[in-house]
Amino acid sequence: MSTHKLTAALSIFAVNFGCLAAGPNLGKPIDAAEIAAWDISIPPDGTGLPPGSGTPAQGASIYAQKCAACHGENGKGAANAAVVGGAALTNGIDTVKTIANFWPYSTTLFDFIRRAMPYQQPRTLTNDEVYALTAYILALNKLIGENEAMNAQTLPKVKMPNRDGFIPRFPDKL
Ligand code: HEC
Repeated sequence: MSTHKLTAALSIFAVNFGCLAAGPNLGKPIDAAEIAAWDISIPPDGTGLPPGSGTPAQGASIYAQKCAACHGENGKGAANAAVVGGAALTNGIDTVKTIANFWPYSTTLFDFIRRAMPYQQPRTLTNDEVYALTAYILALNKLIGENEAMNAQTLPKVKMPNRDGFIPRFPDKL
């Protein structure tokens, strides 16, 4: 290699190495409060359920305003899934899976509504509203009483009909 080529090769190396050493300089450190805003998953046992509370009656009026257009009056279904009822799963694999006949944990209802509904405006509901809607849907399905409030203590205790219909992949995580 000529001296000229060697110098060129070394300077390319130096430039590349310089970039690597400096790093791409993207992003910034994230703090605990910022993580908390995204860390909203609720596991089956309800760990992490926020403060707040709501009754089926409170949920009924929120549902009428923010949910019925897609899920139908009284949860009976419309353009989108019914949130009440469902045939027994013993009818076969083609049976439509619903909250009442399929979902194993009540806490999933809180998690799902909070993160994903209303479909066009997810994460706009307050925790009280999510508890109330959860209570309303559970009461529609006769899984809780009409006056039972749902909150971080009561919701995890609601046993769903299909609770034992699954083989848990990670039993120690339940
Ligand atoms: C613009 C239409 C729309 C609105 C409004 C809406 N949803 Fe939904 N909802 C959907 C769609 C679409 C799905 C199915 C999403 C998917 O692919 O899982 C769904 C799914 C659900 C499910 C899961 C149903 C199941 O059996 O898997 C629940 C529970 C639910 N919505 C609750 C609500 C609640 C409570 C509200 C009111 C705060 C609401 N939704 C408002 C469109 C809507």
